[in-house]
Amino acid sequence: MAKPIIDIKGITRDFPLGSEVVKVLKGIDLKINKGEYVALMGPSGSGKSTLMNLLGCLDTPTSGSYILNGKDASQMSDDELAEIRNKEIGFVFQTFNLLPRTTALDNVALPMVYAGYNKSERNERATEVLTQVGLADRMDHKPNQLSGGQRQRVAVARALVNHPSIILADEPTGNLDSKTSVEIMNLFDEIHANGNTVILVTHEEDIAEHAHRIIRLRDGIIESDNVNPKPVQQL
Ligand SMILES: Nc1ncnc2c1ncn2[C@@H]1O[C@H](COP(=O)(O)OP(=O)(O)O)[C@@H](O)[C@H]1O
Ligand SMILES: [Mg+2]
Repeated sequence: MAKPIIDIKGITRDFPLGSEVVKVLKGIDLKINKGEYVALMGPSGSGKSTLMNLLGCLDTPTSGSYILNGKDASQMSDDELAEIRNKEIGFVFQTFNLLPRTTALDNVALPMVYAGYNKSERNERATEVLTQVGLADRMDHKPNQLSGGQRQRVAVARALVNHPSIILADEPTGNLDSKTSVEIMNLFDEIHANGNTVILVTHEEDIAEHAHRIIRLRDGIIESDNVNPKPVQQL
């Protein structure tokens, strides 16, 4: 058996809230292999974003272990997490999170600055991924000169730019109309078809149907974890 790219055992995450402790994740075991396409579903407040933030090395668990691509990410310092995040993770958010006064090209190239590439390497690669997401003619546009769907494409290009091991997307279509949502999902399908590991959070069944495996969280535990027998594919 191939070694999983994500190997989580017994993860919990508590948050202190005043004098109380809120137990959000209550013991998660999860293995995800390279090249999988996973949808994470569940009611609002069930812990989806908390789990995604742990998977994306934006946070560390209260207890349990997280082996990401062979490295133990559950015990890392903030600096180590930042480094592994920049190398291994491409994160796409519901609200795009682009720098507002910065062109599409420079937004996409930014993670390469931290990774130590020079300007011509950055521009070449950023141009390549922006072309891949269909924005070859929008590279010099700033976010407010782009539609919601185009902004999310820029965010997807930024997530891809450092050749990450995993693409994580937390409700990537949550701020988009249904037609644009389908276009963005077709883009994720294509990214998956190119060999990437894709994990996305959604509460919409028709979005989740694109994935090949559907995991449902409820109240901080995994309620179900099933193969999707007939993923939507419009390629
Ligand atoms: N930093 C935090 N401090 C306290 N409670 C939090 C924090 N982050 C999340 N929570 C709580 O954890 C629960 C799950 O949140 P979240 O993971 O965002 O759920 P989902 O993404 O499934 O809607 C919620 O009840 C939320 O209020
Ligand atoms: Mg959430």
